[in-house]
Amino acid sequence: MEESPFNSTVYVNGTISDGAVAVVPVFDHGFLYGEGVYETLRTYRQSPFLLDRHLTRLRTSASLINLTIPQDDSELAAAITTTMRHAALKGEQYVRLIVTRGVGDLSYDPAGCPTPTVIIIVKTHRETSPENMENGIRIIISSILRNHPEAVNPRIKSNNLLNSALAMQEAIQAGAQEALMRNYRGELSECSQSNIFLVKESKVLTPSLESGLLEGVTRNFVFEIGAHTGFTVRETVLGDSDVHEADEIFITSTTREILPVTRVEDRTVGSGAPGPVTLALAAAFRRQAELLSGGSDP
Ligand code: PDD
Repeated sequence: MEESPFNSTVYVNGTISDGAVAVVPVFDHGFLYGEGVYETLRTYRQSPFLLDRHLTRLRTSASLINLTIPQDDSELAAAITTTMRHAALKGEQYVRLIVTRGVGDLSYDPAGCPTPTVIIIVKTHRETSPENMENGIRIIISSILRNHPEAVNPRIKSNNLLNSALAMQEAIQAGAQEALMRNYRGELSECSQSNIFLVKESKVLTPSLESGLLEGVTRNFVFEIGAHTGFTVRETVLGDSDVHEADEIFITSTTREILPVTRVEDRTVGSGAPGPVTLALAAAFRRQAELLSGGSDP
């Protein structure tokens, strides 16, 4: 059963309430123009994972839309902790931190919006289903191109998500779980909500930032894990033929961690089961996440 969006606790500019009653004014430019930036985090052992990296990226995104976030990192971290405390959830938590341009008149002039709106949504984190981990997921290659970096730069993790939503609609219609997108040059860029990695002869490859994509926190973590586990992980330019020739494919994101892809459209990837490199990296990722969150090496 689909969980209710209201099973959440929401902070809006210092006021914490149940998700069912939390509101943002209609004149907020986040609503009117999609002018805002966000981060999605999850907890391990009840602690937001790689919070410092997410806050750094939030500020990068904000600066790329000329938005100054008045709160410093410790204030934002404290607001997250307070909201989590109110939510009082038992298991792992999903945390979405959103900062919009704020309330102002119907004008694009940022001067008319003196106070950014800060929103924090906390709810239970939903782990990837064991079936998806064991069997891998199916993705499509979307007909929707990733935004041109000189239009809306995909580096900005913005609330303006129409490009991703349209691509994901195609995946949903095709009964697939993610949509891989090409850039305007026809190169692979990333998926609607995750980064993509291909494995070829034990080498792990991912599109470079120049292909126009979000610099995923999990993506960066995979480079570090690769270095620890002895796999070469590198950026390169990739195209459709690389997908067809890949031995293994996986996607990465904060919420999905490292998730195997075993079918692209109606083609089977490699053996049709999650491959050894993907599984080794996924296990190393989980181990490292637990360790960095105060766990011990099992
Ligand atoms: N999505 N690319 C896009 C377009 C994304 O939206 C995301 C994350 C990623 C992966 O980034 P990270 O590893 O930092 O989570 C790549 C999050 C989960 C979201 O939109 O909620």
